[in-house]
Amino acid sequence: MDPQLFILLQDFYSLKPTNKLNFPKGVSPTKINDFLLIDILFDSHFQQYPPSQQYQKQFWKWAIENLEQMPVEDNDDDFEVDVSIYKHYFSLLPSSGLVIGLSHPETQNQICGRGIALHTAAPSNSYVTHFWRPYPMSDPEVVDALVDLKHYQRTTLLESRTTIESGTTGLRTWLASFVLAEYLIAHPNVLTTSSNVDINYSTLDWSAAIDIERKKMLQVFLQQQVNADIILGADVVFDPALIPALIATLKMALSPKESNKQGLIALTMRNPSTLQQFINQANEAFQVEDIHTGSPQRLFSETLEGRTEDVKLFLIRL
Ligand SMILES: C[S@@+](CC[C@H](N)C(=O)[O-])C[C@H]1O[C@@H](n2cnc3c(N)ncnc32)[C@H](O)[C@@H]1O
Repeated sequence: MDPQLFILLQDFYSLKPTNKLNFPKGVSPTKINDFLLIDILFDSHFQQYPPSQQYQKQFWKWAIENLEQMPVEDNDDDFEVDVSIYKHYFSLLPSSGLVIGLSHPETQNQICGRGIALHTAAPSNSYVTHFWRPYPMSDPEVVDALVDLKHYQRTTLLESRTTIESGTTGLRTWLASFVLAEYLIAHPNVLTTSSNVDINYSTLDWSAAIDIERKKMLQVFLQQQVNADIILGADVVFDPALIPALIATLKMALSPKESNKQGLIALTMRNPSTLQQFINQANEAFQVEDIHTGSPQRLFSETLEGRTEDVKLFLIRL
């Protein structure tokens, strides 16, 4: 696949806003049309885990407009946007009696142009898919500068795209998680030193660690039930008031000292003073190592925050 088309595929599945998308340059309209059809519309992953209709309306409108406006090359002088693309786009719109399947580009343009009002509503839940490949990134798949999808893995999440929801930070993936994931992909030994990789998921309330009545229960849970070798945390410091409870929880999870348990915590620096408060309190409780990730290459397309240099990664031990 042309690398520009691959980037478009990644951007589409990660719901990148259309004003930040790059329409491929130097690629023929037929090739882009076929990519949209084969690699997106008719692809089984898309059919099973499509991005939200709300996002798709914007994406397909953008794609159709750009295709229609492409200068027709010599070998593409019969080019028409495939009718399936129009049909799909119109199926996303509230029924409006629009006629589909018109072949004249000028007419298509007019229809497309009035087809959609940009959404101002809160973003709806959506499947979000990320493409990534395990290291080493020695590019065995780059043949004639093409990307071979079979070297990539896909991870799909159903996310709530609102940034604040039910008093918390929304069920979406934040930048620090991507940086942490990139670090773990680049350093797979961090997770595979233990012969037993067992991932535990549960909802904790850190404040239990500083609550005399709930402390014991959390301790039993963390040290006996979970007993994790490594604690991963991403974007867990965003309010100074939460820091003491988080530190107390980490302390419990990393105990006893002899166990050599470690924590890997990725934090996005939004407010330097909040981050500094975490560092100060963490330094009192743990040995803290600031790991400069030097992540050689961004794997994920993150659409909300985007500045990986704002993310700090700390390795902590008792
Ligand atoms: C910005 S989100 C980060 C989510 C995810 N780790 C990521 O990077 O995409 C902050 C997380 O901290 C959790 N959190 C905040 N206060 C908490 C508390 N008192 N106990 C447990 N978790 C808490 C929230 O539930 C939320 O998942």
